[in-house]
Amino acid sequence: MKLTILGGGGFRVPLVYRALLGDRAEGRIAHVTLHDVDAARLGVITRVLAEQAAGAADAPVVAATTDLDEALRGADFVFSAIRVGGLAGRAADERVALAQGVLGQETVGAGGVAYGLRTVPVAVAIAHRVAELAPDAWVINFTNPAGLVTEAMSRVLGDRVVGICDSPVGLGRRVARALDVADPAGAEIDYVGLNHLGWLRGLRVAGRDELPRLLADTEALGSFEEGRLFGAEWLRSLGAVPNEYLHYYYFNREAVRAYQGAGPTRGAFLRDQQAGFYAAGTRPGASALAAWRRTLADREATYMAASREAAGAGGRDRNEPESGGYEKVALALMRAIARDERTTLVLNVRNRTTLPVLDEDAVIEVPCSVDAGGPRPVPVDPLPYHAVGLVTAVKAVEREVLAAADSGSRATAVKAFALHPLVDSVSVARRLLDAYTGAHPGLAYLAKH
Ligand code: G6P
Ligand code: MN
Repeated sequence: MKLTILGGGGFRVPLVYRALLGDRAEGRIAHVTLHDVDAARLGVITRVLAEQAAGAADAPVVAATTDLDEALRGADFVFSAIRVGGLAGRAADERVALAQGVLGQETVGAGGVAYGLRTVPVAVAIAHRVAELAPDAWVINFTNPAGLVTEAMSRVLGDRVVGICDSPVGLGRRVARALDVADPAGAEIDYVGLNHLGWLRGLRVAGRDELPRLLADTEALGSFEEGRLFGAEWLRSLGAVPNEYLHYYYFNREAVRAYQGAGPTRGAFLRDQQAGFYAAGTRPGASALAAWRRTLADREATYMAASREAAGAGGRDRNEPESGGYEKVALALMRAIARDERTTLVLNVRNRTTLPVLDEDAVIEVPCSVDAGGPRPVPVDPLPYHAVGLVTAVKAVEREVLAAADSGSRATAVKAFALHPLVDSVSVARRLLDAYTGAHPGLAYLAKH
């Protein structure tokens, strides 16, 4: 089996490779091809992987290229983990939004719209190359904003593209731990929404929903990240535990203020941190793997720090794995498909008839039953009205982003910003688009009226 990783010079690639090294089973990935537009980054990551593989007798063979077509030919699986505009672009997304007094997170609010507007055309172009050169490959999309980008690619690839995020599985794991569930892997998660916009409404263990027990237990609610972010009282009001990214909605003023007050934004912090890592990774004689490990630990410890600060939620939980675990979700998905091992995973797939308030092609995040035929959403209870409101409003924004990427229309791009629940004025939306097009060469295509 051959796996191609687009964005192969990216910082998280060694997590994927480490997971592959741990997979000894029949039908495992034997060849990995890294593709990136930046040869220097590819070189550094290749060094890290070589150090990881040292000593492993049958480590997956690694190749690297800057030629997309060459990378795609013969691929059984394609991971798409690109970052259009790089981390400098992410920092600009944040800065521009904050200057207008609105949130500039990479997936939520104005920042997510800006990032989507410049990523969708690139993701669609990639999807066309995959359709032509590797039509039977499964594409696993990690590129944020993951739900939107998956939907864009699904217009070309249909159900052959599946979006991945580790936050729902992480939430399920944390809730199971707070409940002292003996076998967390056996617990059944009732979770649905869009990517970074979903709610855990239940956790069934041996057929019984244990969430009510958690909601009644203030101490247990204070023992995990989302419990501290949202507070016991608000979780009881909702009767559910929201994805951590809903903090940006439910505590928007506080989040914006915390972001404005935090020295460098998340994107600026990572831009500088990663620049240091990639520079260190070329130094002869030094261990690129050691530099990578240090950088990873630092990145994880500061994840969502501004939100935790706004909520007075304290530091990152030491029980958390050193990555959110998204590479494990990806590996589990590949295994289920390649070996026809049926399992259930929370994935970003087309809605079909799962949520009746959305059309069939809308990509949603939902538990799916996966086997050789790919993922199929499992039936879920309908969303309550407050969640329907957010989900449909944000899906409407995503549709405007897709339409703007298709047509190059500025008016449509303004509409995408203006309709977002976290952008509170059409004038602000206009100023956002002007400032973003000034900051990002990747938005030059939005030249038409
Ligand atoms: C979580 C999110 C991802 C995001 C990652 C890293 O796992 O679900 O979508 O890419 O965190 O966030 P960071 O701020 O470190 O880039
Ligand atoms: Mn995510």
